[in-house]
Amino acid sequence: MLMDPWQHLSKWFQNDDVTPFHTTHGRMFWDLAGQEPKLNQFFNEAMASDARLVTSVVLEHCGVVYEGLDSIVDVRGGTGSFAKGIAKAFPSISCTSFDLPHVVDSLVGSKNLSYVGGDMFEAIPKADELLLKWILHDWSDEECMKILKQCRKAIPSKENGGKLIIMDIVVKVYKGHNELLETQYFFDLLMMTLVTGR
Ligand SMILES: C[S@@+](CC[C@H](N)C(=O)[O-])C[C@H]1O[C@@H](n2cnc3c(N)ncnc32)[C@H](O)[C@@H]1O
Repeated sequence: MLMDPWQHLSKWFQNDDVTPFHTTHGRMFWDLAGQEPKLNQFFNEAMASDARLVTSVVLEHCGVVYEGLDSIVDVRGGTGSFAKGIAKAFPSISCTSFDLPHVVDSLVGSKNLSYVGGDMFEAIPKADELLLKWILHDWSDEECMKILKQCRKAIPSKENGGKLIIMDIVVKVYKGHNELLETQYFFDLLMMTLVTGR
């Protein structure tokens, strides 16, 4: 399902479909994930695996960002690996993992961890701090603007402690590390092929 769209790039260049993924499967990536349990499970597990690694790095090097907060929402937090890590490290913070209903509906929270299903283009649960981890790269500039506007509605003003944290890949040249740049360009192509991001 994820490899086939690469075989349809030339067809996609000649039609008006949003993505090569859509040319191949007739629908958007997130819609197919909602309909194909195997893809849903495979993708969620891959994301959770990455989130476990990143959580340990964040807690070790950036834990101070979470001190003094009452609540955080991991926007499109998948199956909640990141929120779980924060909930465990900071028992006084109420943590929510917010994602599409087919991702979170069967999950059960704990004392300070909850799961909420919904569509971030409609509304995002309110919190002191929102996290967008591996999100903006999936979307076009126009869609990113819509997501950021929904985020703004869900947090207090900056003066009142509202925070938005963005963790994402950037395309940047590091001298002597060409292999990193190749990875970044490849990721860019991957997003163009599967979703509407760049
Ligand atoms: C690239 S994954 C990132 C998951 C998680 N933040 C992480 O880093 O492990 C993107 C997530 O966005 C969710 N998603 C896609 N469209 C959404 C929408 N309209 N509203 C809420 N979540 C959405 C997907 O189900 C998926 O879990």
